[in-house]
Amino acid sequence: MFTVAPATRIDARAARTPAQDQIAVALLGLGQVGSAVARLALESCPGMQLPVRITGALVRDLHRPRPTGNRVPLTAAGDELLDGAPDVVVEVLGGLEPARTLVLRALGRGIPVVTANKSLLAVHGDELFTAAAETRTPLRYEAAVLAGVPFLGTFTRRPLAASLASLCGVVNGTTNFILTEMSAGRAYPDALAEAQRRGFAEPDPSNDVLGVDAAQKLAVLLRHFAHCSVKPEQIETTGIGGLCARDLDQAAVLGGALKPIIAADWTGHDLSAFAGPAFVAASHSLARIDGVQNAIVLGGAPGGDLLFAGPGAGPVATAATILDDVVEATEQPKPQKTVEAHRTRGAVPAAPLTGWFIRLTGNTLPVAPDVADLLSARGVWLRRVSDDDGRDGRATRWLVAHPCDRGRIEAALAAVRTAAACDAHWIRALEERA
Ligand code: HSE
Repeated sequence: MFTVAPATRIDARAARTPAQDQIAVALLGLGQVGSAVARLALESCPGMQLPVRITGALVRDLHRPRPTGNRVPLTAAGDELLDGAPDVVVEVLGGLEPARTLVLRALGRGIPVVTANKSLLAVHGDELFTAAAETRTPLRYEAAVLAGVPFLGTFTRRPLAASLASLCGVVNGTTNFILTEMSAGRAYPDALAEAQRRGFAEPDPSNDVLGVDAAQKLAVLLRHFAHCSVKPEQIETTGIGGLCARDLDQAAVLGGALKPIIAADWTGHDLSAFAGPAFVAASHSLARIDGVQNAIVLGGAPGGDLLFAGPGAGPVATAATILDDVVEATEQPKPQKTVEAHRTRGAVPAAPLTGWFIRLTGNTLPVAPDVADLLSARGVWLRRVSDDDGRDGRATRWLVAHPCDRGRIEAALAAVRTAAACDAHWIRALEERA
């Protein structure tokens, strides 16, 4: 447990030596990412000029051995670190409390905050960004989405951002790593364990595999690009649990790959969004994003789509972006009054028109032309159809359908289920996009 009782006073400014013109950073959290931040700062990450000094770190357990040894003073009292008047607070506690309280206190004292905590921003964004605007204090969050790829700050300063009208991307490193490994024949539990071992997964990995982490990141992106305040639970969210290795194999046979996708479109205050696994045609730039790599495609720029890609998770990639943000936070002019985000109430509609990747399984299945007839009679047109796969003594066939709305696909598949006595499982499919 964290406490608010005073421990050792950590005075950042008093601790500076005259030769130092360093940025005093108080670390809230010394887990995998916090330790990587401290190590990069202490060991002067090769290639990065880091005028950064860690004044201390907030930890739950003062007695647990740390990779940083005694080079970083520890405290269990967050207020101690704030009382030391650091130049920047880095919040890498994860979760909602005490992160929210301490970030609000830092902003209230005019101390810039850098955070990688997408849950915090997705759930308490209205409150935190209002506090940052009122105190004109930087609140930076580059590492919260595409952890190793700084791109959000660029768009804060560029008028080009106003032209953007859509995004799609792969923003969860853990699930992209798992699906890539499963495509290469690895079992799901092994792939998940490896993602945890490498520090990609959340402390509770169900947030990754159920799509919660991706929906939180989508909420952060919608605030940033569409000026919409959306809660993750308002977004249609699906996890990767319904997929099996054969789906991944057949996606490749049908000319694409299955990826953990987020997608959103906005025009004025009209917004649609979803987070979940989707079939992506091989010609789509996201089809080539494998392993822990993440990417965002921003649509609407006058010259065409913009693609940003790089490591999406991992302690070192995240820490490097955080430290970059620290330096930016101290050089950034005081923020102006922020444009207030438009609050979206109720469920956000999912993208109205996407394609569909469908798995039909039954003891026997109608021949492909008959399935196509059943679907086309209900306005669903097929783009690709796999051969029957008769493994496990059951017939299975995969289909990719052209875009249509969700109501139409559900009605059509209900008719196929009844006519063919089969199970139908579907996920979305993204239109081909260069
Ligand atoms: N668990 C997250 C992921 C960490 O796998 O993408 C980076 O946000």
